[in-house]
Amino acid sequence: MKREIEYLLNPALKNIAAYRVEGGQEAEIKLNQNESPFDVPMWLKEEIIGEFIKEPWNRYPDILPYKGMRAYADFLGISPDSVMMSNGSNEMLYTIFLACLGPCRKVLIPDPSFSLYEKIALLLQSQIVTVPMRADLDFDLEAILRVAHDEAVDFIVLSTPNNPTGKSLTFEEIRLIAHSSDAIVLVDEAYIEFSRQRSVLELIDELPNLVVLRTMSKALALAGIRIGFAIANPLLMAEIAKPKIPFASSRLAEITLTKVLANYSLVTDAVSYILHEREKLYAALLSLEGIEPFLSDTNFLIIRVSDARALFQRLQSQGILVRNVSGYHLMENCLRFNVGLVDENKRLIEKLGAL
Ligand SMILES: Cc1ncc(COP(=O)(O)O)c(C=O)c1O
Repeated sequence: MKREIEYLLNPALKNIAAYRVEGGQEAEIKLNQNESPFDVPMWLKEEIIGEFIKEPWNRYPDILPYKGMRAYADFLGISPDSVMMSNGSNEMLYTIFLACLGPCRKVLIPDPSFSLYEKIALLLQSQIVTVPMRADLDFDLEAILRVAHDEAVDFIVLSTPNNPTGKSLTFEEIRLIAHSSDAIVLVDEAYIEFSRQRSVLELIDELPNLVVLRTMSKALALAGIRIGFAIANPLLMAEIAKPKIPFASSRLAEITLTKVLANYSLVTDAVSYILHEREKLYAALLSLEGIEPFLSDTNFLIIRVSDARALFQRLQSQGILVRNVSGYHLMENCLRFNVGLVDENKRLIEKLGAL
């Protein structure tokens, strides 16, 4: 008798679901995926395409995107051996988790945090130890330190600034966690360009157990091109790189990265705008009745309202797509939206003010 398909699959599939974005990815005012509101300017796209067209499309790119890695290492002022480029930082997360986790491993994940961490850890049948954020959504440093020690965890993943809460650990707090634990500590800095805290990148030589994750999808406005990076000391990097999918980054991704890094004032200008608008939005939200905004270190804001589901739907019916993050621990009736263009932010505030 033939076995049911279910029994042939990875048993962990029972515990996970396919990734989905509630409300979809199309809207007149799209604020639900923490993207940059600014596309790469046409003159730069044309420059990039002009180079891309000269490439042989019938030939594989390099096994690993060495040119892109060298460009980013130069940009950061570190050795290329410390850098690994991926097809979005999501791909790098899978690679790092594959390298570090498995059925006998324990992973510490603050809760709530970026959902992919739990999903990959479950898929790899690792034991997850969650550490709840505090009621104000800030990290609970003491609890992280205590649980890391008491549970002897093997791996700690910290999204800081954190998606979906918008809160950060400080440089010294991360240093303390990585110093006091012998676990591998992965610090996901997807939103670091928007943070009041500084990056822990400079600690990779001091801390042999530290891995920093970066994405080009947020401040660098390249979500559609798919570029992420891991940075660690070369010894650890050589190990982490072993499960990497070969040829995963396209020639287009390498060229785009190099060109955007060479025109980085576009990024710093966009970040200045986003920080300015974020503060304006926060002040406007504070003045609205029935809305509790949280201070954010990212390009998005969290608000608590009386009925998040109803408000999500109402905004959606008016062409504004935000993210309903109410399902996350401690985030009941919370909505998340990234900073948009001036007019988009204005319309959002008008709609929220008319509740
Ligand atoms: C904390 C965090 N890490 C990683 C990612 C994935 O980014 P990408 O795969 O686009 O590099 C995201 C995307 O929203 C994120 O919020």
